[in-house]
Amino acid sequence: MSLARRAYVLGGHITPFIGKKHPDFIWKRHPDFGTRDNPTLEDYIQRAVDGALAATNTPAADVQKAWIGNFVGELFSRQGHLGAAVVGTHPDLLHKPVMRVEGACASGGLAFASALESIQAGTDVALVVGVEVQTTESARTGGDYLARASHYARQRELDDFTFPALFARRVKAYQETFEVTDEDIARVSVKAYANANRNPLAHMQAVQMDLATASTAGDRNPAFLSNEALAPYMKVSDCSQVSDGGAALVLVSEEGLRRLGRPRSDAIEVVALSHTTGNLWEDSEPTRLDTTAVAALRVMQDAGITVGEVDVAEVHDCFTVTELLMMEAMGFSKPGAAAAMVAEGRTEISGDLPINTGGGLVGFGHPVGATGVKQIVEIWRQMKGRCGDYQLAKIPSTGLTINMGGDDKTVVASVLRNH
Ligand code: CAA
Repeated sequence: MSLARRAYVLGGHITPFIGKKHPDFIWKRHPDFGTRDNPTLEDYIQRAVDGALAATNTPAADVQKAWIGNFVGELFSRQGHLGAAVVGTHPDLLHKPVMRVEGACASGGLAFASALESIQAGTDVALVVGVEVQTTESARTGGDYLARASHYARQRELDDFTFPALFARRVKAYQETFEVTDEDIARVSVKAYANANRNPLAHMQAVQMDLATASTAGDRNPAFLSNEALAPYMKVSDCSQVSDGGAALVLVSEEGLRRLGRPRSDAIEVVALSHTTGNLWEDSEPTRLDTTAVAALRVMQDAGITVGEVDVAEVHDCFTVTELLMMEAMGFSKPGAAAAMVAEGRTEISGDLPINTGGGLVGFGHPVGATGVKQIVEIWRQMKGRCGDYQLAKIPSTGLTINMGGDDKTVVASVLRNH
């Protein structure tokens, strides 16, 4: 989508992403167990909205419309109807139009896309929220809930952990087609954890990951699938986290900037956005992310940029192999060659194409409905020098985000520019 009305992200807020292995996550061996509970879905919505309005100095009364991305609140928290939950965060939001948007793990990206379309139609100040709570059930039960993003009737039986199995299928095909070793793929995980270790909001901030551990299945890093054909292709270190968290941002038109009394230099511009959708009922070619490739191509064409102009990218690394496939879908490398770029350090914070600087879905965490919103806020933070220990040495001018739902089925990509 090329934009008829200019649109700006004024900033936003990301809550800490937490879950198992995070120091603040309450579980039976935590010293606070029994005296303190983990935040609820309602808490995350409240914290994300409060944080975004405060960070952008936006009075709730000035918000004209809002969207919330969430995948399965009904299952993990027995709560749906989350548009009205956003209204519950502030009295001045009462009776404003707010809507929940669902597109599996791309729910946050779709909420952002919806707000952007509304800006095109005349809205000047929009609020975009993303949230998910997933730790109310075991990872195994959660695997069943997340499997609703696949073709459930056909793919659910692949494994209790349907999505890890779907992407193990991709790893198998990728390794059979190209000369890519376990160590090549493990480097994506090592980078994700190293970045997360520098990020105080990250789920895996306190967990170290070295190449030997990430490359080898064993007690420290189990190959946990029960599907015997796929088990060798997926280890815990390859997976995004089962996280709780929220993120929110304020999106405005030029008139919105004026109304809020804010200079353009506080914001980043949304130069283009693309939204593509694949066929849920069919498997796609396992060594490629075709729906993602179309989204990436379209968004760069609409933005009038080439891949070489991207200074920083936030991509949907739901599994380590997905980050490699995303790099290839975006045209950063030829098919089968992304791992070599990772091995050369080019995607690290110090590299020429930094990807997922805060740790991505593997290190920062993946509260699925929040992820697409978090990606945009992360680009804003990098462009405004707010990333602390993981701040890029050179402030980026052009950023790219790709948020994916299901197995390459719903994709939202955006190009963002700093002024
Ligand atoms: N040896 C063998 N198996 C072991 C093991 C060991 N040493 N340790 C654990 N396991 C197995 C066990 O079977 C265990 O299950 P049970 O306890 O029920 O028997 C299972 O692994 C999980 O163990 P835990 O619950 O202790 O592990 P965890 O909580 O750390 O979870 C994980 C690890 C299963 C990998 C989990 O992080 C996970 O499921 N990650 C992926 C989340 C996911 O799929 N998100 C969606 C991504 S897809 C996307 O983004 C698109 C979309 O639209 C959905």
